Amino acid sequence: MEKMPIVNLLEQTRQLSESGQRVRVLWQHPDTLVFIARGREYRSEFHINPSDETMYMIKGEMRLHYRTPEGKEEVAVIPEGAMIYTPAGTPHSPRFAADAFALISERKRRESETDRFHWYCQKCDALLHEETFTVKDYADDPVSKAYDKFFGSKEFRTCRCGEVMAVPESL
Ligand SMILES: [Fe+2]
Repeated sequence: MEKMPIVNLLEQTRQLSESGQRVRVLWQHPDTLVFIARGREYRSEFHINPSDETMYMIKGEMRLHYRTPEGKEEVAVIPEGAMIYTPAGTPHSPRFAADAFALISERKRRESETDRFHWYCQKCDALLHEETFTVKDYADDPVSKAYDKFFGSKEFRTCRCGEVMAVPESL
């Protein structure tokens, strides 16, 4: 039997800061995938996950932007020390500072499941672009890969209304 992991969350956040990485996977198994994420200065995408998620704020506050089934954008505020449950399929965009840390719990993706990332126009709210990923290993940081693709293409960032989403200074 594999040794059961016991993780000191504060120690892990320190190591994550020092490494400059955004994500540290604590473990990943078919029914449980847990990682710590650092915030981004700039976050714009909505993630559509085939798995349920819970997000617990170890340090700092999260503003979780999400879209209702009617397509309306709403914001849930999760203070430090609190957690939220987000059902599978909810387009959500976790926004928190670069010195804030969230503990995120999902499960490994099943055969044929894909993750989707959506961007919406900041002027008219139309869907700008969708990226889809098969997430085999969360340590590959699929969010960063989606960002590289989206911000690498002016076409993807250009809305039919004419608005172009700017590339942030740091991704
Ligand atoms: Fe637009």
